Amino acid sequence: MRSKVPSFIMIPSFLSIIIFTLYVFLVSHNHISYLLHPIIIFFFIITTILLYILESINSLIFYKKLQSFSEEERKRIIKENEGNYLYRFYRFIFYNPKYDEVKKIDHGFDGIIELDNKLPMWWVHLFYLTIIFSAIYFFSYLFIDFSNPYKEYDIAYKNQLREIEIFEKNTPQVTIEKASFKEDSINSGKVLFEENCATCHQLDGSGNIGPNLTDDYWINVKEKDLFKNIFYIIWNGSENNPTMRAFGKSGEIKGNDIEKISSYVYFINQKYKKPLKNKGPQGIKITEWSKI
Ligand code: HEC
Repeated sequence: MRSKVPSFIMIPSFLSIIIFTLYVFLVSHNHISYLLHPIIIFFFIITTILLYILESINSLIFYKKLQSFSEEERKRIIKENEGNYLYRFYRFIFYNPKYDEVKKIDHGFDGIIELDNKLPMWWVHLFYLTIIFSAIYFFSYLFIDFSNPYKEYDIAYKNQLREIEIFEKNTPQVTIEKASFKEDSINSGKVLFEENCATCHQLDGSGNIGPNLTDDYWINVKEKDLFKNIFYIIWNGSENNPTMRAFGKSGEIKGNDIEKISSYVYFINQKYKKPLKNKGPQGIKITEWSKI
């Protein structure tokens, strides 16, 4: 008999299956932007038109065939197909046969009758849909890179590297001329200090292999400003002792991070309580930097 699936359901379903397959294929080859390519859009329009024509032919055949049926038969079929698409679609999906129409299986001995209900249409179609979906998914997993976790990781990792590169290109690094103490940078500076400097200076700056950074004694005096002096030493290292290496010059730490670390060092030197245990004074005492 006539296909019960109305065209406005059939066409979008077909199209979505095609789109999903295309999507799976294109995404795994990193060509997802092609989905909006004019050729593909053209292909969809043609497919839609063809499907529509198919549907119209179908319905023409249906009415032709109808004439060959008996009057009674014809009435029944017309009744079955009455109403607009939406109504028919609703009936098609949620159709509940009446109790007397349901096939009954009598098991005989206990008087219990089993109703052999048909599965509801929506259930059956959902089931078919999962089969189609899993088939596409399964083969794309086997043969192309779609939903392959290693490949996904790789792509995400590369994207992240690219973003970092762009970010660094767009955020100019601070140099000593522009660098200044920033209260907001103290915390992030502390983290960086812990990673890069604490082995030699201790996290509280009290000194270990390197000198105590919290007192007023300085071995290296290169700038007239304490903050700039700290920045200078981290950038250029120490002339007298290569153990304190040139973190900035060598590219090991970028200017923005050196500004943060300098803010932390400045903070523990000027504004934070002094550690009780420290390495002791090294270098010359400077209390007023502006007078150098
Ligand atoms: C491998 C050990 C080591 C590491 C790591 C290290 N330093 Fe040093 N640092 C030293 C030594 C040793 C000196 C003394 C240099 C000298 O005698 O001129 C020094 C000197 C300094 C000075 C100058 C102190 C003064 O009195 O002149 C500052 C400021 C400083 N370091 C900050 C840092 C910061 C910030 C870091 C992390 C980015 C760092 N250091 C990492 C060993 C280190």
